[in-house]
Amino acid sequence: MNKLTLKDLPDAAFANRRVLVRVDYNVPLEDGEITDDTRIRATLPTLRYLAARGARTVLMSHLGRPKGQWNEKYSLRPVAERLQTLLEAPLRFVADVVGPEAHAAVDAAQRGEFVLLENVRFLPGEETNDPRLSEELATLGDLYVDDAFGAAHRAHASTVGVAEVMRRDGRPAVAGLLMERELRVLGDALENPERPFVAILGGAKISGKIDVIENLLPRVDRLLIGGAMANTFFRALGLETGKSLVEEDRVEMARALLERAGDKLVLPVDCVVATEASAQARSWVVDRDAVPADVLILDIGPKSVATFREELRGARTILWNGPMGLFEIGAFSRGTDGVARAMAEATERGATTIIGGGDTVAAVEQSGVAARMSHISTGGGASLEFLEGRILPGVAVLSDRTEG
Ligand code: 3PG
Repeated sequence: MNKLTLKDLPDAAFANRRVLVRVDYNVPLEDGEITDDTRIRATLPTLRYLAARGARTVLMSHLGRPKGQWNEKYSLRPVAERLQTLLEAPLRFVADVVGPEAHAAVDAAQRGEFVLLENVRFLPGEETNDPRLSEELATLGDLYVDDAFGAAHRAHASTVGVAEVMRRDGRPAVAGLLMERELRVLGDALENPERPFVAILGGAKISGKIDVIENLLPRVDRLLIGGAMANTFFRALGLETGKSLVEEDRVEMARALLERAGDKLVLPVDCVVATEASAQARSWVVDRDAVPADVLILDIGPKSVATFREELRGARTILWNGPMGLFEIGAFSRGTDGVARAMAEATERGATTIIGGGDTVAAVEQSGVAARMSHISTGGGASLEFLEGRILPGVAVLSDRTEG
């Protein structure tokens, strides 16, 4: 990576310094309770690294989309409570972002201690990347660390503007340990994968993933396609898809992709169909060329799982983004579960297995195999944009190695 990371700076750069760290604590909440703290835990290596070097760490994050308004529903207070149970050092939560309370808390923080500021998206200048807010945020730290891979595709004041101010003033803006790992693992898969390299793409729509398909096709040895996205390819092959979700305006594109990709692109050979998308509906398996006109395709079938398993058998790098079916309903979860298990086995055979964020993370967790993957990305939209080959603004803005 051509960007500076925490580890490139000498320990003296942190001792008794105010280190402003952007994290992505945009975690799911139900009735004020955190239902998945993966994103909080994922930042612990960076936080412990800083505390061990005597930094006074100031954390900032967004949560949800409060649209520039103060809204208790999106407060980071529950995150602070959870984080305090995970950290060995004192953490102070402050219901302020750049005002006097925030400054007082930062001034009071001792070496090895933490301050978590309130949701940066409570301020209207965050999402507009307002230069005034960036200047204000920059007064809270002596250097900037970005560990928010999940928000790196957003050019906001706390991800881009503040880093620009830091660098303008000759202060470092570096990647945290989580950010560094995400960029290395996903970057290696794209640029330097151990082969064979197999990608599995699923989810509802081709339209949302077309740039990922285009970017991956020349790099992979095989591209396996499942989920409702496969239906549009079925239609391009002239197959009956019943009442299934099909993107009519993408059928031509799917046809062109099939032609161009040849046998690199592997589609399901059978499917689980049902009369409706509900747990109560009758469901059964049919070959892909025998789909009745009055049903919905809701999962890949067992022959497809076997085909996909076979494709994964010799793979050395596997990247997966997007479920194979409506996995939230048991009857339509077997395809996704089968792929998750095949990936877990591949990890045990020594392959690098990467879950590209979003829904797929929930799917591998539901299958109980999350711990058996080499890497689970904490980015949803950010991973997708990275896999599309785009430069993420939150990464582009960090200090280059040549500045080190
Ligand atoms: C995410 O959850 O993908 C990130 O935290 C970004 O959130 P956003 O889509 O609201 O910008």
